[in-house]
Amino acid sequence: MSGRLKYANKVILAPMVRIGTLPMRRLALRYGADIVYCEELIDHKVVQCKRIVNPILDTVDFVLPDGMCVFRTCEEERERLVFQMGTADPQRALKTAKLVEGDVAGIDVNMGCPKEFSLKGGMGAALLTQPEKVREILTTLVEGVSKPVTCKIRILPTLEETLELVSVIETTGVAAIGIHGRTMKERSTTPCHYDIIREISRKASVPIIANGGSGDVATYEDVARFKSRAECSSVMLARCAQWNPSIFRKEGPLPLDEVIKDYVRLAVDCDNNTSNTKYCVAQMLQSAMEGAPGKALLAAANMREICEVWGLVPYLDSVLEKRERLAESLPLQLQK
Ligand code: FNR
Repeated sequence: MSGRLKYANKVILAPMVRIGTLPMRRLALRYGADIVYCEELIDHKVVQCKRIVNPILDTVDFVLPDGMCVFRTCEEERERLVFQMGTADPQRALKTAKLVEGDVAGIDVNMGCPKEFSLKGGMGAALLTQPEKVREILTTLVEGVSKPVTCKIRILPTLEETLELVSVIETTGVAAIGIHGRTMKERSTTPCHYDIIREISRKASVPIIANGGSGDVATYEDVARFKSRAECSSVMLARCAQWNPSIFRKEGPLPLDEVIKDYVRLAVDCDNNTSNTKYCVAQMLQSAMEGAPGKALLAAANMREICEVWGLVPYLDSVLEKRERLAESLPLQLQK
């Protein structure tokens, strides 16, 4: 695939803090997701990062001055990855987008996060009631970035208010709009307002990406049902993909044990950190955390101990050995 990313008729991995790191995104793509979003990354943080090519992992890393890797990506996802940022400032948003634009397929702005941290900073759902700021941020990005720009909103208390916001967004030149069918006050247990998404989809001039249906999605057929209920162009899945990323398989979901093994192998490949790997596996295990694998996962202090739980130590060793050989073969200036 090459060319500009298109958002029509896609099944998409939603942005999820801590979940949407590189191994999960690669896994979702391998299972059949068309597009994957990274977790929301805050512009303030990203602009401090340096872009570093990592020849050992074959990744591109965005690293803070203290050495912490904030965002890691690789060739496999380059043409299908959307970078989501949290921002309240057009120029900082642009600076952030320019830093990553060569390594991603699209840029998205989070306009739905209801968490205090976002609202206090004027980000996320705080933008829903500031159409002028929305216009400024999106126009600046659309004009300044070579990749398609989108945003992800929540619905407002009435259809009319939501339509008004959507019409402002449409005028900025965005390539699509993600809509989570709940208001910022509604929790994930509130049923998704498919009717509102449907009304917006019927009127919108750009593809609408419906989101909020995880409670009704357990199989690939449910994904199609979700799409037809919302009459939308594309669908975006968050929690159901977090619980079992093989939801993206047209052939049907795989048993969790198999999915977790696939995930842990990718976490090893990406040199994903232990705490993030544990967190993602724990979300997949859910109630089974009470069982022996869950207890062993909780106790695991490093990747080797996680691999022990799923019989993947030989895999880890083979990857580490290959990595060591590669490191030795690199020119001295590239060796750490
Ligand atoms: C989220 N959500 C979210 N949204 C967003 O725009 N950026 C983000 O970084 C996050 N982070 C995040 C983390 C976790 C663990 C969850 C469960 C959710 C919201 C998410 O993308 C989605 O809008 C909602 O979960 C509703 O969709 P589902 O879960 O019904 O498919």
